[in-house]
Amino acid sequence: MLTEEKVIELLSPIQDPYLHKSMVESGSIRELKIKEGYVGLKIGLVHTGTPEQMQLQQQIVQVLKNAGAESVGLRFEKREDVEAEQQPSGQQQGAPSILSENSKTEFIAIASGKGGVGKSTVSVNLAVALARLGKKVGLIDADIYGFSVPDMMGITERPKVKGDRIFPVERFDVKVISMAFFVEDNAPVIWRGPMLGKMLMNFFSEVEWGDLDYVLLDLPPGTGDVALDVHKMLPKCKEVIVTTPHATAAFVAARAGTMAIKTNHEVLGIVENMSYFQSESTGEKEYVFGKDGGKRLAEELNVPLLGQIPLGQPEIKEDDFAPSVYELTHPIGEHYIQMAKTIIEKTK
Ligand SMILES: Nc1ncnc2c1ncn2[C@@H]1O[C@H](COP(=O)(O)OP(=O)(O)OP(=O)(O)O)[C@@H](O)[C@H]1O
Ligand SMILES: [Mg+2]
Repeated sequence: MLTEEKVIELLSPIQDPYLHKSMVESGSIRELKIKEGYVGLKIGLVHTGTPEQMQLQQQIVQVLKNAGAESVGLRFEKREDVEAEQQPSGQQQGAPSILSENSKTEFIAIASGKGGVGKSTVSVNLAVALARLGKKVGLIDADIYGFSVPDMMGITERPKVKGDRIFPVERFDVKVISMAFFVEDNAPVIWRGPMLGKMLMNFFSEVEWGDLDYVLLDLPPGTGDVALDVHKMLPKCKEVIVTTPHATAAFVAARAGTMAIKTNHEVLGIVENMSYFQSESTGEKEYVFGKDGGKRLAEELNVPLLGQIPLGQPEIKEDDFAPSVYELTHPIGEHYIQMAKTIIEKTK
């Protein structure tokens, strides 16, 4: 059973990244709460939302979990009472390169009105399909609370951090970054207000993306803060809207479309997912979730219907586990290649 004294003892060897002395000594532990297996901490740092914070976060969670904490909640706040020993060099750099005016990187956000319609599945498979067609692709799991991309792609590695740069993890030739990489197991990380946008900004500015043709962003469902932040941060970002064929889903998805249009973001088109079930034995299609929701939404927003993806699961390979990635030879893999070709055509 962890006590306050024990937690302090465990944290005291960890250095404050800006003050270069023990976290305990530097007074960065602002609050400490212990309840059964849960340890909650509020930590003050001179700079928040930085790679240094991410590293510190990983260190703290690891130490506490190794000592028996079941879950760890961390909150960070900016410290105004002290000054950093030295400015992190990352903060002095100019505009991040993939965001710069003359960057040729196309940003495509994958949005939906409702949750669970297959945004993440579509993001992952479109990214893989674009890479299979020879494009240089990055994938940002912008679902900061509900991150799922690493699990879906079977990523077990963590990004490498060198100095103040983060190197994305490569899987199926796609460079991936996700909040999942910066939390231990399922430890909750509590992001508030501006921190969210800051985290997202770090995914652009602190991550070493290299030269990319496309960056896909898997957005959280709905038209909330993150979606708005993305629209603000990436004025050039285009959008793909995912819906199921059900009338209600399509109706709700229209809101995501309206938001894109209001904020002057081009909607590349609609992906209708879970469109039908096709019998392997007879080839007959059954429209189990309704029909034509995607088509009607496309008409309503006056944008193309990019594809209709049937129900189906990828083959599960024990030796190369990626539960949501369809192989190139899978019929659904072929649907994604077709959509990727359309997207390449439309973004030429
Ligand atoms: N075409 C499909 N056929 C069968 N299952 C699918 C298909 N597309 C997605 N799924 C499954 O549906 C579930 C939801 O998909 P996914 O996580 O991609 O949705 P989401 O819109 O990202 O959800 P959330 O709103 O929670 O982020 C997953 O279990 C996924 O494997
Ligand atoms: Mg998702």
